[in-house]
Amino acid sequence: MKRFEEKVAIVTGAGGGIGSAIARRLSSEGAFVVVTDVNAEAAAQVASDIEAAGGKARVIAADISSRDSCFNLVGQAFGWRNRLDILVNNAGINRRGNLLSLSDEDWDISFAVNLHSMFHLCRAVLPHMVAAGGGAIVNTASQWGLHPAPNHIAYNTTKAAVAAFTQNLARDYAPDKIRVNAVCPGEIHTPMLEAGVKRSGRTIADLDRLVPFGRIGKPEEVAALVAFLASDEAAFMCGSLVEITGAQAVA
Ligand SMILES: NC(=O)c1ccc[n+]([C@@H]2O[C@H](COP(=O)([O-])OP(=O)(O)OC[C@H]3O[C@@H](n4cnc5c(N)ncnc54)[C@H](O)[C@@H]3O)[C@@H](O)[C@H]2O)c1
Repeated sequence: MKRFEEKVAIVTGAGGGIGSAIARRLSSEGAFVVVTDVNAEAAAQVASDIEAAGGKARVIAADISSRDSCFNLVGQAFGWRNRLDILVNNAGINRRGNLLSLSDEDWDISFAVNLHSMFHLCRAVLPHMVAAGGGAIVNTASQWGLHPAPNHIAYNTTKAAVAAFTQNLARDYAPDKIRVNAVCPGEIHTPMLEAGVKRSGRTIADLDRLVPFGRIGKPEEVAALVAFLASDEAAFMCGSLVEITGAQAVA
């Protein structure tokens, strides 16, 4: 028996590095996966890979920085199979800057994409999960939300808020058997990380040296953790912030 047989999962940012790995992983374990991203082409590619591998995927292109689009997304996703079991709030953006160098626009859009989307998506999904007697939500925070890296005030602050949001939601809805947890990845090799490396003039090898484990992480390694947290194997995990950093967080 696969862990997610018959279950429906929404994965946001599923066209990106970590999101596509999560979507593939959940599908490989039997889930019907709603592959959603603002990048419709990337989402379509991931969904077609999933279908080619024998899985079931539905593409819904959506810009989750808008409240209406979050509610529309959940409405369409629920309409697919009349159930929603898992929500993976993975989409995120990383705008660089400190208090004085960051633009107002970058501050606002960071909160809209990284935090407010979770608020709206959870509000849209929760009534379905409560009615069904339970569900699992996994939010993507970051190591930097717990241990801030310099010059990323908006990103770090949104991710710290994601951690607090996760704990609050878990506390409030644990009695309804809705498990809410967050993953806090360190450096993971994705397009987002590649862009940051390019901007800073560093190399991947430079980052590898910063990690006690000797290398940065792979999207599939985060996907394995997300799948565990979304599964019944994590039945008593609720309100946890799980770091996945190759020991960088304790270095
Ligand atoms: N890569 C890392 O080192 C790292 C470390 C810690 C946390 N994270 C977090 O992991 C998550 C995934 O990041 P990634 O590294 O895979 O980045 P990525 O850039 O490869 O993927 C992010 C995806 O989110 C989508 N997205 C952005 N804005 C959106 C919007 N308004 N509506 C819908 N989708 C939108 C993008 O199109 C993209 O496909 C993010 O929340 C990121 O903050 C990444």
